[in-house]
Amino acid sequence: METIMLTRHDPTPMFAGNTLRSLPGRRSSVHLAIATLIAVGFTSFTGCARRPEVKSFEIIAAPTTVPLSSGRTIQVWAYNGQVPGPTLRIRLGDTLRVTFTNRLPQPTTIHWHGVRVPNAMDGVPGVTQRPVEPGQTFVYEFTPKDAGTFWFHPHVRASEQVERGLYGVLIVDDPEPQPFARDELWVIDDLLLDPSGEIAPEFNTRHDLAHDGRWGNFVVVNGRSRPELRAAPGERLRLRLLNVANGRIFVPDFGALQPQIIAVDGLYVTAPVDARGFELAPGNRVDLDLVVPAALAGSRVSVVDRFTRQAIGLADILVSPDAATDPPRFSIPVGSRMPDAPSTGSAPPSLDLRLNAEPGGPFGIAWTINGTAMNPLDHASGSEHYALPLNEPSRVRFVNESYRLHPMHLHGMFFRVVSRNGRPIDEPFTRDTVLVHPKETVEVVTLPTEPGLWMAHCHVLEHAEAGMMTLLDVH
Ligand code: C2O
Ligand code: CU
Repeated sequence: METIMLTRHDPTPMFAGNTLRSLPGRRSSVHLAIATLIAVGFTSFTGCARRPEVKSFEIIAAPTTVPLSSGRTIQVWAYNGQVPGPTLRIRLGDTLRVTFTNRLPQPTTIHWHGVRVPNAMDGVPGVTQRPVEPGQTFVYEFTPKDAGTFWFHPHVRASEQVERGLYGVLIVDDPEPQPFARDELWVIDDLLLDPSGEIAPEFNTRHDLAHDGRWGNFVVVNGRSRPELRAAPGERLRLRLLNVANGRIFVPDFGALQPQIIAVDGLYVTAPVDARGFELAPGNRVDLDLVVPAALAGSRVSVVDRFTRQAIGLADILVSPDAATDPPRFSIPVGSRMPDAPSTGSAPPSLDLRLNAEPGGPFGIAWTINGTAMNPLDHASGSEHYALPLNEPSRVRFVNESYRLHPMHLHGMFFRVVSRNGRPIDEPFTRDTVLVHPKETVEVVTLPTEPGLWMAHCHVLEHAEAGMMTLLDVH
């Protein structure tokens, strides 16, 4: 099978070539030095007392052509000419300033998935900003409140724009560097290619809408088919997994390796969990703590997806035959979590969101929340506003009345899953996206800390486009 390679560069390590350095500014040499050190995962850099900085980046969305490793090319829409787009990396406390220019043939926005941004920076058309029209520029500027793995993508015609290649990663580093030998990123996507090898240009088809969205026929990690990651026995790696697919769910199986989950949807866990069986739904991220056992020296470990019956190869880890070194210790940084939502005991749910479909709408099938389908081109019109109190816990129930999968995502806040089908669940982490299975009821507790109108929607982008979005009014 042909290898697809969507990045313009063939970065080694994969991560470095993709990291966008901040633009030269007043402290440019320091910026560049720090950005470069971080990019190659240089860990002996001790960020001695350091003032918060404004890190400025420029992002341009435009159609472009990227090479496949076979020598052929594929047409994509890309941030700064590469798929995945640039990795933006800042340290907690820094302010991110992104000057964004739209050179697409359609309006667009950038949404910062998982980041507690001020509402006006959330990238929701018709609600927090006007769409950025072709040729226009918009400046996104905010100071993230949490360290972790986040991503960004359009919120206009997302089912088309994300599928065509518009997504990138935002990493907010801890104030103190962590002891990992390397910090790697696997951005997992699937593409639906037509027989000519281009991205199939029919979006929001009846088939996609009647099922779990658009599932591709080509799985890529960092824009490539089955990339190889080299590691040494005894090494301790931080591996950040992101699912940016429109609809496909991944359950990565690491074979003989036993990675531990140390962060979910950006935030650190309260206790590490075995990564086995974790359902990485569209929108989800997990950060893995991976220690390469000495016994695997000289071997190749295939990482495969086990969500579907047919296992799909994601990537291979090649362990060098060297003698093992002692891995450095790692523990979850104390005080790294935001105040958590306390369980609200037996209080009745504050809000039920019933998920279902009905015939009608622009695509023939409308996906609804409490019987209402949102107009995808103007997220403000015709949608409900459900009130949630600011800085107080609320219980929200996602009631899936349909037979399809719905990874439900809330903007601007984190939540803790407290029950599935009425059975109490004790996940030692918070999320911003939870997969709700067919006919399942998932109850979560959230503690919104940012005022404003925030979206609640399905992250199967075709379902969202067909209406499965609503608004939470936090005040
Ligand atoms: Cu990735 Cu509205 O979300
Ligand atoms: Cu859905």
